[in-house]
Amino acid sequence: MKNDASRSCLVALCLGVLCALQLSCALAVELKEADLANPDVIAAGKKRFNRSCFYCHGYEGVGGKGASLQRRPDLAADIIFNTILKGRISGSSVMPPWKNVLTEEEITQLVAYIISLRDMPEEK
Ligand code: HEC
Repeated sequence: MKNDASRSCLVALCLGVLCALQLSCALAVELKEADLANPDVIAAGKKRFNRSCFYCHGYEGVGGKGASLQRRPDLAADIIFNTILKGRISGSSVMPPWKNVLTEEEITQLVAYIISLRDMPEEK
């Protein structure tokens, strides 16, 4: 593929940026259990999700360009938080970081919403 060189370059650049971000945001993030279970926080997260994440993760996190976020007890709160904060590169799929777009509070709302999707009933 003729784009390989530029792609590796891009990946290297992204990795560099991610490393820098990781260093600069040693934010002591405390996700409060109470917040994560609060229906108002979850509802706010759902609203935001439908605006910012729906395009890749689908209706109620069913998945699409991005991973399915339903029934994912493996996604711990801190993993979700950091993925949203820093973004994710998976092969040629890229999730952008939201660090400069969303506040910590908004990201926490999204974490609460995604955790609430653990209990989604199976598709029929
Ligand atoms: C441009 C597409 C895109 C957008 C927009 C996007 N994501 Fe993602 N997301 C991805 C991709 C791609 C992955 C990596 C998927 C994989 O590993 O299979 C991912 C991974 C994730 C993961 C980790 C899933 C896992 O299996 O580890 C979470 C959590 C997540 N996204 C949440 C969000 C939230 C919340 C938003 C909205 C703020 C969002 N994403 C917006 C594309 C996107």
